[in-house]
Amino acid sequence: AGAGAHIEVLLDEPVATVAPEIFGHFIEHLGGVIYDGVWVGENSKIANTDGIRTALIDRLKAIHAPVIRWPGGCFADSYDWRDGVGPRSKRPKRTDFWVDEEHAAKLPNDSPVKFEPNQFGTDDFARLCRLSGAQPYIAANLRSLPPYAFDQWVEYCNSPAGSTAYADMRAQAGTSAPYNVQYWGIGNESWGCGGQFTPEAYASEYRRFQAWVPHYGLDLKYVASGPNGDDVDWTTQFFGNIFGSRKIDPPFGWSLHYYTDLPEALDFTAEEVYPAYAKADRMEKIILDHWTAMGVYDHEHRVKLVVDEYGPWYRMDTELDPSHIFGQQITIRDAVMTALTLDTFVRHAEKVSMAACAQLVNCINSLFLAHEDHFIETPNFEVFRMYASHQGGRSVRTEFAAPAIDFSYTDNKQGPFGAGTTPGVTKGPLWGLNGSASVKDKQLTLTVTNPHLTEARETEIRLQGGSAVSAEATVLAADDIHAHNTFEQPRAVQTRTATAAVSGQSVRFTFPPSSVTRLAVTLS
Ligand code: AHR
Repeated sequence: AGAGAHIEVLLDEPVATVAPEIFGHFIEHLGGVIYDGVWVGENSKIANTDGIRTALIDRLKAIHAPVIRWPGGCFADSYDWRDGVGPRSKRPKRTDFWVDEEHAAKLPNDSPVKFEPNQFGTDDFARLCRLSGAQPYIAANLRSLPPYAFDQWVEYCNSPAGSTAYADMRAQAGTSAPYNVQYWGIGNESWGCGGQFTPEAYASEYRRFQAWVPHYGLDLKYVASGPNGDDVDWTTQFFGNIFGSRKIDPPFGWSLHYYTDLPEALDFTAEEVYPAYAKADRMEKIILDHWTAMGVYDHEHRVKLVVDEYGPWYRMDTELDPSHIFGQQITIRDAVMTALTLDTFVRHAEKVSMAACAQLVNCINSLFLAHEDHFIETPNFEVFRMYASHQGGRSVRTEFAAPAIDFSYTDNKQGPFGAGTTPGVTKGPLWGLNGSASVKDKQLTLTVTNPHLTEARETEIRLQGGSAVSAEATVLAADDIHAHNTFEQPRAVQTRTATAAVSGQSVRFTFPPSSVTRLAVTLS
């Protein structure tokens, strides 16, 4: 083991309740996410529940998936929800937002995603959510449909049984009770694919879209389209407008997207690991920067952050399947990045009220890989399974002290967003251990990542304001940082359990190299 480390858990310094929704998910009509990933069709030989992959539903239940965002992403702003309801055989095929000429040329002729078949629509999404126990979060089209189409979508989803023509249509599709969709995104990336708006122009569109939407007795929670990464000007301009002299009710959430853009999902060297972690770790600064900018106008911080797209994203042409656009392999390195991001959300529980990992299956930071009758979990799934015990707990302050990692690296490889990655992190130091803690009843959940490639960290954890009765560890680690699951070896990466030594206020545990650990500590 390398040099020792120390963690203080300040049980008497609560931050806020950890919204279960920060462990949310995202499915977009993109490559293999919906078709092949989620939807296999009612007549498929693959085990399905009304056309939805049953294995996926079961695994979503296992991680207590709290919320699912749909239908995009960029796809949302070119989607007409009316194409995806009514008899399946009558639904139109449409040009797929994601299949431009460059993509189309790479797809096999019979690829199911060359055109959007609209076989999976609002009723199917609502069913997926109901079956898996998640709340629906729908992103409305602000770029290419008028606000009236948004009102009608809300009406289709939420008007009471027997009340409107849309309620009758919903009943014909099999569900007379309203879906009661509360979370609505007002556009997506409105600074980019969602309309290339200026912040001022987006603010006035937002005003139009949120005004007098039918509520049907629900507290609708709007998520406004926030910044690209650290674009604080976008946030400042929007908040200045919404909270200005002609102020309106603020949105529930301010969406924030930040991707860790990297060259290679699998074919990376040891030198590329720490810079990747440091890049993923920028999330914390981005959250703090926007929170500060929001507070200039929103003094009481009524609006919370909704980080509804995040994850490592690799260069094109490294996909596992040509039809699964952006569907790369997921290694232990990705699991560490996912864990450090989720820890950031838990530490900032008073700021982040919802998040969605991009994306659930066959795309970017997947929890699952699926193709026809193959369906496997990635190491990210294990992270979500471990971190589920934070849901609804009270985040408490932590202090980590471990030898920092120094590195120096020149990042000049091709990433996913055009030529070269966005400026890489070329120098350390990177913290030696990090994580988060939350308490529910007498149960403390402490999650910790050890980014070091070779050194384990023997650690003393001190509980300020409480003492421990017992502590069980669940550890995700592998000897090789490239470790991942495949259809042939679906359980190559697995968690193991261990018992941590406990004595009054002290818990001792050794965190292995390149690991994610959850300690479940029972308090006296
Ligand atoms: O998740 C893939 C894409 O990334 C989404 O469609 C878009 O919102 C973002 O640019």
